[in-house]
Amino acid sequence: MTVEPAWLVEPSPQLQGSIKVPGDKSVSHRSLMLGGIAEGITEATGFLDSADCLSTMAALQAMGVRIERPRHDMIRVHGAGAGGLRPVPQALDMGNAGTAMRLFMGLLAGQGVPATLVGDSSLMKRPMERVARPLREMGATITTSGGLPPVVIHAASPLHGIDYTLPMASAQVKSAILLAGLNARGTTRVTEPAPTRDHTERMLQSFGVRLERQGATVALEGGQSLHGTQVRVPGDISSAAFFLVAGCLAARDGLTIRGVGVNPTRTGLVDMLRLMGADIHVQPIEAPGGEPLADITVRAAPLRGVVLPPELVPLAIDELPVFFIAAACAEGQTTVTGAAELRVKESDRLAVMAEGLQAVGVSCELLADGMRIQGGGLRGGRVHSHGDHRIAMAFAVAGTRATEPIRIDDVANVGTSFPGFAALARSVGLAVQELPGGA
Ligand code: S3P
Repeated sequence: MTVEPAWLVEPSPQLQGSIKVPGDKSVSHRSLMLGGIAEGITEATGFLDSADCLSTMAALQAMGVRIERPRHDMIRVHGAGAGGLRPVPQALDMGNAGTAMRLFMGLLAGQGVPATLVGDSSLMKRPMERVARPLREMGATITTSGGLPPVVIHAASPLHGIDYTLPMASAQVKSAILLAGLNARGTTRVTEPAPTRDHTERMLQSFGVRLERQGATVALEGGQSLHGTQVRVPGDISSAAFFLVAGCLAARDGLTIRGVGVNPTRTGLVDMLRLMGADIHVQPIEAPGGEPLADITVRAAPLRGVVLPPELVPLAIDELPVFFIAAACAEGQTTVTGAAELRVKESDRLAVMAEGLQAVGVSCELLADGMRIQGGGLRGGRVHSHGDHRIAMAFAVAGTRATEPIRIDDVANVGTSFPGFAALARSVGLAVQELPGGA
């Protein structure tokens, strides 16, 4: 029997410090992919050296892209240019990375590169038709296995642009269609039901692609080439999120997270915590082009329960697990709706969070598209992450208000997005002990 590594978190009521978090995962994936099909060299600094991004890197290398690593947080991509990726006979393994699989579907279909995409046991259960369907409308030949991976992209005739309205707010689907549209005949237009992260659009522009945004619609002309560029990857606000909430709950003297990406399509958590009464100061940093940056300082403040405006949900989609911890520690009840997408993340994050919250003594009610949480604090106990990195880190943050230790099982996948989380958490006073092999 293999026993997964676990964490034991002791009650840690007082945090403080000034830290940096690793680079943004979404931006790191995109710097590799766009760099891979550009003409010339792309250099990205602040790159996230995590398992998810290394899956994207390995796939590009297998398809013939030369990538140098002068430092662990820097990549130099020698672009293969349009039509330069080489098909490989074996399946490309995306590991745990949904972003890698979905964006590669669009990129490879557009480039006319046949491929088979597989992943780990979590990714093999995630829906892929949401991407395959619009790509087929563009002329691609793609098969899934009953909607799930393996995804097979067959060699096909060139694609044509489409005018597509997304059925769900998903940056991955939007991005896949835009990446396919780069090589399609005519114009590709994507309309979103609600704003989602726009890293693909911003980065395409910095590679010299012209695109137009009008209201909820983004459009690009096919047949444009990309030119290698310099990318500065900001600190990942989805990683900073754990320290933002921890700071709201336990940093009486303040906790600062430096150099965080504050793209307005990603800052929903800051708005959500402020609605609850949080004391958060965002100090912008001068950052030329690309993505906006800031130092964020948070101080402990009493939080009160809220009815969350559903339009904030897509702007904080990966931050909901740790937001639920804030809600559990607030005074009064918090209701989250409009969050059905959480059911198809690395785990069913609604069900897994509800199970974990109940295990540490929080009363909550699972809704079809959200959760109702009774605030007032938590006890401690044993929770299971179900292999989901963000669930594991969310429950570590719960240690700030726990009255007893919390044991979190199955934390290995934290390395998919946030290598070094436990050590960084300890450096600000969160007592996370690593139990290798689940001792
Ligand atoms: C991502 C988009 C989001 C997010 C994921 C990263 C991206 O997924 O949850 O972690 O990089 O485009 P959806 O597009 O499925 O909402």
